[in-house]
Amino acid sequence: MNKIFVVYWSGTGNTEKMAKMIGEGVLSEGKEAEVVEVTAIKAEMLKEIPVFALGCPSMGAEELEEEYMEPFVAEVEKYAQGKRIGLFGSYGWGECEWMSDWEERFISAGAEIVNGKGVTVLGEPDKETLDRCYQLGKSLAL
Ligand SMILES: Cc1cc2nc3c(=O)[nH]c(=O)nc-3n(C[C@H](O)[C@H](O)[C@H](O)COP(=O)(O)O)c2cc1C
Repeated sequence: MNKIFVVYWSGTGNTEKMAKMIGEGVLSEGKEAEVVEVTAIKAEMLKEIPVFALGCPSMGAEELEEEYMEPFVAEVEKYAQGKRIGLFGSYGWGECEWMSDWEERFISAGAEIVNGKGVTVLGEPDKETLDRCYQLGKSLAL
């Protein structure tokens, strides 16, 4: 399948902006992008797909959003072995522990983190961050 899924949760829109720019990067490589809010997709949809991106801001105390994103990620983790997964999200005041924990979860599950680590930004994504998101989209499409 050529379509690249970019699944995200975003409370105030920062992570959503990142998701949309990742979708633009995918499109720039001539692939189809499906940028979708986590409540609009079931985790099993990604089961047979080798590469996709997941986005979530730091919530709780350096955690994923607990109602929708955490259960979704827990499902994906079960079949993450061998997949290439891009990670991204915004944070407010911490030191990105939520993202290093998230990367570690997927690495332990046998996945590769696309571009080596998740794309993070303090608050609203600036131009440099949006460029990194665009590049992540391109890498997903390769
Ligand atoms: C309930 C709640 C918990 C949060 N917990 C953290 C946290 O533990 N660490 C952190 O750096 N930011 C935390 N934040 C800040 C958000 O990660 C930050 O506002 C981010 O930009 C939100 O992204 P969004 O616009 O995609 O929702 C929290 C925000 C909320 C509303």
